[in-house]
Amino acid sequence: MAEPVLTIHGVTKHFGAVKALTDVNFTLERGEVHALCGENGAGKSTLMNIIAGVLQPTEGEIRVDGKVARIASPAVAQSLGIGLVHQEIALCPDVTVAENMFMAATNRRRAPFMSYRALERSAQAVMHRLAAIDVGRKVADLPISSQQLVEIAKALTLDCRVLILDEPTAALTETEAQQLFSIIRGLKANRISIIYISHRMAEIFSLCDRVTVFRDGRYVSTDRIADITPDDVVRRMVGREISQLYPEKLEPGGVSEPIFEVDDIGDGERFHGVSFALHKGEILGIGGLIGSGRTEIAEGICGLRSRTAGAVRLRGKAQEINSYSDAVKAGVVYLSEDRKGSGIFLEMSVAQNISVLDLKSLTNSVGLMNVRAEASLAEDFARRLAVRMGGIEAPVKSLSGGNQQKVAIAKQLAVKPKVILMDEPTRGIDVGAKAEIHRLLRELARSGIGIIVISSEMPELLGLSDRVLVIREGRIAGELGADEMTEEAVIRLASGVGTAKAANHAG
Ligand SMILES: Nc1ncnc2c1ncn2[C@@H]1O[C@H](COP(=O)(O)OP(=O)(O)OP(=O)(O)O)[C@@H](O)[C@H]1O
Ligand SMILES: [Mg+2]
Repeated sequence: MAEPVLTIHGVTKHFGAVKALTDVNFTLERGEVHALCGENGAGKSTLMNIIAGVLQPTEGEIRVDGKVARIASPAVAQSLGIGLVHQEIALCPDVTVAENMFMAATNRRRAPFMSYRALERSAQAVMHRLAAIDVGRKVADLPISSQQLVEIAKALTLDCRVLILDEPTAALTETEAQQLFSIIRGLKANRISIIYISHRMAEIFSLCDRVTVFRDGRYVSTDRIADITPDDVVRRMVGREISQLYPEKLEPGGVSEPIFEVDDIGDGERFHGVSFALHKGEILGIGGLIGSGRTEIAEGICGLRSRTAGAVRLRGKAQEINSYSDAVKAGVVYLSEDRKGSGIFLEMSVAQNISVLDLKSLTNSVGLMNVRAEASLAEDFARRLAVRMGGIEAPVKSLSGGNQQKVAIAKQLAVKPKVILMDEPTRGIDVGAKAEIHRLLRELARSGIGIIVISSEMPELLGLSDRVLVIREGRIAGELGADEMTEEAVIRLASGVGTAKAANHAG
């Protein structure tokens, strides 16, 4: 028997001239896991923020347990048993995991005599269900995937009846995601209702009971997962047929001279003895578990982390890279996995963000910005990546999560780099835009730009790369050529079970 816990009826939300939601409907039943799908900018997070009291609708009605509710603030949402794990990580970096987890819970309980030790113990108990993270550690010291897990653990302390997860797995590894799924199944068994937002169809189809699709801020459809295919969902999201195929790879033997060489680099701590060459025309993938040192290696190459050993050569010429600006000058750019930390400036406009690294070529001899050139560059990339925004003058913080990521990518491409290192480039990006980014990367590689892609998403790593290096404990555990690249081979190397050869023969 259907028993709606939450009903959204005719909700509209405008931000000035931007119509984020137009007359949408949505019903959540008790004990179901309900997926919400839509392209970047379709209005998913906006609706979740309305349900969680962060935003107020321009029009429309929300019912909780059949009764009209005015969710005036996050505290009201909490008192109604509604919890939201935001798409963007928003923890206090300078305090511990436990303190971050309590912030919501303490607001609610207001116990007069709160024992910090007791709270830390209960935080650890909740955290244990998810991952082995010490709740006494400072959030700032944790990698981005652990921070994402802290956000989730924080919501689990609230005992909610409705739990909203807005792209919870975007920054998680496969294992961490599986752990989360088993928790979600447990919540469902306890009749808790879950709204699940993700761009990963495989997750949605293994986890959810129903799926609702939004397009351009409008409601499109709701179906039982059993009655629909991933292709149907994608078609409804984009309103047309799209190719989810990866672009063609290099032909065997198509690789020519090395354009970028990394020789025995190390930082004496997180990575050691890393050597590889990137050849003209190829896309080099870097796989490995989160925390294996992939990001640190990229940072070491780009001057964002100091090195104690090794050299970097661009077209045979040794490069003196001691800071990120040295790297950019040499033509080596890095797309950070944490776009908020070092990727983009949220307060600045789309145009300003895209041109920020390329000020030199946009500045005339008098030193004034050539505003016209800035605008056309920004518009060019925005069109290419289909950035959905009010306009190029809109501040980046007003864009949806996936569209912010597209701006971060455009910003890197705008400097016309020689080598691009990208850390999880398509995180949070919808299927259509993702295919476009993959095509763009392939085109850039063909035009002679070196492309290195760090990815935790196995289909992307294998589908996009011509060759994969697998990192384990700060070293290259193995290299997989086109004919050896399988999911199993990557996992074996990443986890240290057997060699690449053994992995292939075992399969
Ligand atoms: N504070 C804001 N000011 C102006 N426009 C906004 C604001 N917040 C969201 N928007 C706009 O509303 C639309 C919907 O954004 P929303 O974040 O809900 O998309 P989404 O479906 O969550 O996308 P994604 O998959 O990229 O996370 C977008 O066009 C976005 O630019
Ligand atoms: Mg969103």
